[in-house]
Parts: sequence; structure tokens; C-alpha cells
Amino acid sequence: MKNQIEKFVRSIFAVFQITQMYTPEHKRFIEAVDGAYMELQKILQTREDVTVGIVGEEFTTGDVILFDLSKKTKSFIVFLKDRGIEKITFVRGVDKDELASAITAIFTVDPHSEADMQKVLVTEGITHIKTGTISAPRDEGKKVFAQEYHNALESVRSALGNMLEGKEVNALDLKYSLAHFAENIQVWHKEFRRLLAVKQHDLGTFSHILNVAILSVYFSACLGFRKNDMTEIGIAALFHDIGKQYISRYIIKKTRRLTDEEFKQIQSHTVLGANLLLPYEPVLGFLPVVVCFEHHLGYDRQGYPRTPYNRHPHIASQIVTICDVYDALMQRRSYKRDYPPRFIYDLMMRDKGRQFHPLLIEKFFQFMGIWAVGTIVELNDKRVGIVRRENQGDIRSPWVQIISPAPEKELLNLEKETPRLYIQKALNPMKEGKRYLSFL
Ligand SMILES: [Fe+2]
Ligand SMILES: [Fe+2]
Repeated sequence: MKNQIEKFVRSIFAVFQITQMYTPEHKRFIEAVDGAYMELQKILQTREDVTVGIVGEEFTTGDVILFDLSKKTKSFIVFLKDRGIEKITFVRGVDKDELASAITAIFTVDPHSEADMQKVLVTEGITHIKTGTISAPRDEGKKVFAQEYHNALESVRSALGNMLEGKEVNALDLKYSLAHFAENIQVWHKEFRRLLAVKQHDLGTFSHILNVAILSVYFSACLGFRKNDMTEIGIAALFHDIGKQYISRYIIKKTRRLTDEEFKQIQSHTVLGANLLLPYEPVLGFLPVVVCFEHHLGYDRQGYPRTPYNRHPHIASQIVTICDVYDALMQRRSYKRDYPPRFIYDLMMRDKGRQFHPLLIEKFFQFMGIWAVGTIVELNDKRVGIVRRENQGDIRSPWVQIISPAPEKELLNLEKETPRLYIQKALNPMKEGKRYLSFL
């Protein structure tokens, strides 16, 4: 495989040299792209994607440094680094036009323009070729995640605003945000879950829908969906509650019992939303309409709106339903009433086979654990710790790092310590757990 990848990089290098002399319409350029495309196809026959990176002054792939190749292609390495490109990923499904457009875009962008190359590619409609920087160290990752979360929140805010006014929606911007999360989900899911576990939510719709979208992307990644499907599900999740924007704030915020009439109004957000999304089908696809319509229907179809058809909701709707309920319950944690993680787990598991697909809900907690990463917990021996990693084999017993009494920093695998040691309770990060927040 290493040789094949070397051959491919060499063929891209050949294109690079040709672009110095010929335009993209020239026969020589087209032939060179043909050659590179052929080499790429050979690689993608046996794997779903291939990433070529630059570390220091060398090309790398996986953990292998391509020394020989790097020596001959120095000018190319410098060229890419000047444009902020430290890695390029080629995903199966890429076609020749896409490869030619990506190469042209990369080779024509002005290195001083500070344009984000990945954004340029997305704007050109290129989805199977992605550029980026090599994952930054942990603290950097944290900062990048916070920034990306904030940016995505802004995109969502403006997209929903536009939609309500019947204006155009910048679908590319949204797709970019979600694809970016999907791409980095392995690195970022911990940051995201930490944020979910402790953030003082603004209880606004935007953070809820973005959380549901990222959770859905993460959950579908764990389930083994392909990156493109993960992004589609994430996009659909972004719009699941759009219909609520039509319902009076008074009813949405009401904490006392709803009248029958008010309840009917709340329920109508599914149909209202689906109708609102229909005209956007050409840009966003059909999935948002389906998910919006079905996200309260439930696995057993006993939810709303009532439907005459005899089938379970779409798998994307079922994923979003689980993430939606989970995030809503998590948000309540930081609100008035404290819903401890164990309570959320019991509550949701009670609906296994009813609102939630039995296997999906099991899997969800297998991946999330009962005590999500970032939860502050007290053990039965009164020591306090932070959940660092879940144990898929035993969702009740994650890895916990002890933080009190100080200065112990021991990382315990509770799976190995049961029944001697177990989690007694979670500490609410806004109340009794507040003084441990700095350990997160
Ligand atoms: Fe909803
Ligand atoms: Fe929701």
C-alpha cells in the first residue's frame, strides 16, 4: 500500500509541475490528471479513504514517512504548506472532475489571501477531497473545538433566521460545519461531551439543536455510518425543531401543565416544520423533512403526528429522537431540577421498545456510558473524580480520575474495581460539583 500511495503522490506532483506551464484546459494537464486519477482509484479499491500528510518537511501516510519521495518533491511540500495545507484526504466516490477541480482550486489560490482551503473546496462542491491541518495537541484541540462550535452556532442561527423569513439558506456553510465535526469527531467528541456535561446552557433553541446535531453525528459514527451519511443525519438533526419557531414562546416556556389546546399546538411543530423544509429539498435534501416530521413519532409509532403507514420511522429519525431526548434531559440538569445521569438512563431505558428502538437505545448508552465523559462523580468511598472514558463492556463502571482528596491523580478502571468501588452519585457541576470544574 505504501508503494501505491507513493506512486499516487508522485502522479499528483507531476500535475503540480504541469500546472506551472499549462492551463487546466490543456491536453497535458488533462492527461496528467487522468494518470493521477488512475493511481487514486487503485488505492480506493481496497479502502474507503486515503490521507497524505505533511509533517515537518516530509510527506507521510498513516505512521509512515515517505522519505525518498519527500526529497524529490520539496518544492511541492513548500507549496502546500504555504497554503496552510498539512493534509489532504481523498474519499472513495471521488470522480475525475472533482479531482481536477480540487487540483485547480489548490493550485490557483493565492497563498497570501488567507483563504481557508477546505472552505474553498466545499464552496466548489467538492465533497470527496478534504484539506486540513494535522490534529493539534490536546489543548489546541480544545480551543479549536470551542471556536468551531461557536462558528457552527452562528451558521445555524443565521440559517434558521433566513428560513423563517423565506430567504435563501447557506447550505454549504452548514454542510461545512457538520462535515468538519464528522471529520474530527474522533478527536472532538470528548471536548463536546465535556461541554454537554458541564456547560451552563443558555436553554435557547440554538445550542439545543446544535447539540442534537453533533450528538447525532457522533452516534452515527459509533454505529459505523459513512462520513457522508453522518453529515446528512447531522444536517437533518439541525432542523428537527424548526417548526417550534412558529409556536408562541409562552407555550414553549410554560412550566405548568399544558391545556389540551396548547399541547396540540406544541405537537404541530413537526408538521409545520416539515412543510417549511419542503421547499428547501433541492439544497438540503429530503432527510430533514422526514426527520422533522417523524422525530416525535417513536419506534412504536405511538407518538405524534399520527400516521396511517405501517412502518417504523426512518433510522435517521430514530437516531435524532434518542439524541433529542437525551440533550433535553441533560439541559434540565443545569436548570432548576437536577436530573442525575443515572436517572436519565433509567428514564430513557423505560421507553426501550416504545419510543426508542430497543437495539439503538442499548447501543447509545454503550457508547455514551451512563456517566458521560466529563461527569463529576463521588465514589462510595467518598473520593471525588472525573469520568474520563467509558467502558463499553460495563456501562456502569467507567474510567475515573481521582481529583479529591488532592493531590491524588490516580486513573481507576472501575470495571476492575467492582464491587469494591463504584459510583455513588454524580455531583451537579452548577452546585456541589462547582469547585471541581477546573479539573475538567
Ligand atoms: Fe421536537
Ligand atoms: Fe428537540
